[in-house]
Amino acid sequence: MKVDNFAESKSRIEELKRRKRAVILAHYYTLPEVQAVADFLGDSLALSIRARTVDADMILFAGVHFMAETAKVLCPGKKVLLPCPEAGCSLAESCDAGAFAAFKAKYPGHKVVSYVNTTVGVKALTDICCTSSNALQVVESIPADQPLIFAPDRNLGSYVQKLTGRKNMVLWDGACHVHEEFSLEKLLQLKREHPSAKVVAHPECRAYIVEVADFVGSTAAILDFCGKNGATEFIVVTEAGILAEMQRRYPDKTFIPAPPDDEGCGCNNCRYMKMITLDKIVSCLENESPEILLDEEIRSKAERSILNMISIK
Ligand code: 13P
Ligand code: SF4
Repeated sequence: MKVDNFAESKSRIEELKRRKRAVILAHYYTLPEVQAVADFLGDSLALSIRARTVDADMILFAGVHFMAETAKVLCPGKKVLLPCPEAGCSLAESCDAGAFAAFKAKYPGHKVVSYVNTTVGVKALTDICCTSSNALQVVESIPADQPLIFAPDRNLGSYVQKLTGRKNMVLWDGACHVHEEFSLEKLLQLKREHPSAKVVAHPECRAYIVEVADFVGSTAAILDFCGKNGATEFIVVTEAGILAEMQRRYPDKTFIPAPPDDEGCGCNNCRYMKMITLDKIVSCLENESPEILLDEEIRSKAERSILNMISIK
């Protein structure tokens, strides 16, 4: 976006936010210019927590559908807007609520832990939600002899299973199209080219990627690690939107995006997150639409599973 267009859109957004008592919550994977107009930028856990306490009449969620839904679940009295209703999530879509209910019925006596990357319908069938920041603590908070279903990300599930040594955990077979597609061969080649670089990876990546990483964590944990670690070069194996925040926080360090596999979509950008543009934010604030609306019974069941998670943190 050209500088004058950016300045124009930013001042229009600021004016609309003031007039409508609106705040913008944005995920690190959104476009840099979208991150630049956010009141609060974070990973999915931080954004859920912030949504609960934000002092505003309206929340515009610059992120994907399940994130805006989570904000609405936690703030039923506020108007929650999502600038682009098509901004979904391949992981959330890999777990349909009807199919999940049938899956759950096959495992009586199991408690359900599901990643926040799910629809409100799946959250309503869940005992405790988790995010990539707290998945380990959430699973460890449940007695070791309690059988579990973990949904929907099979990679995060196996990672937690490996760390906890927990055998009684059934995994839903879902995955994120971005994180599944990093190429091990290209990553190893990059490591050879940059021998002093540390590899940082998101736990949604496949096990063979996680195994060669120096650090595995959520978006926020990766950002933190890169600041605290003495290395000056990092190979980043997660969605490339995070690089804008890395560069902003640590301008003297170098961040190298890990390449995806050519066989897949060939892209380490989440196409859904990039659907949120400044023009869409302007028109969404002007029209107060598209708005997230939820059935109250499902919302309150989903709220319980999210609050159970927040109380563990
Ligand atoms: P975080 O929990 O790290 O924000 O990740 C959310 C997400 O969608 C990862 O792809
Ligand atoms: Fe969903 Fe993957 Fe995009 Fe994250 S990166 S929002 S998991 S599709």
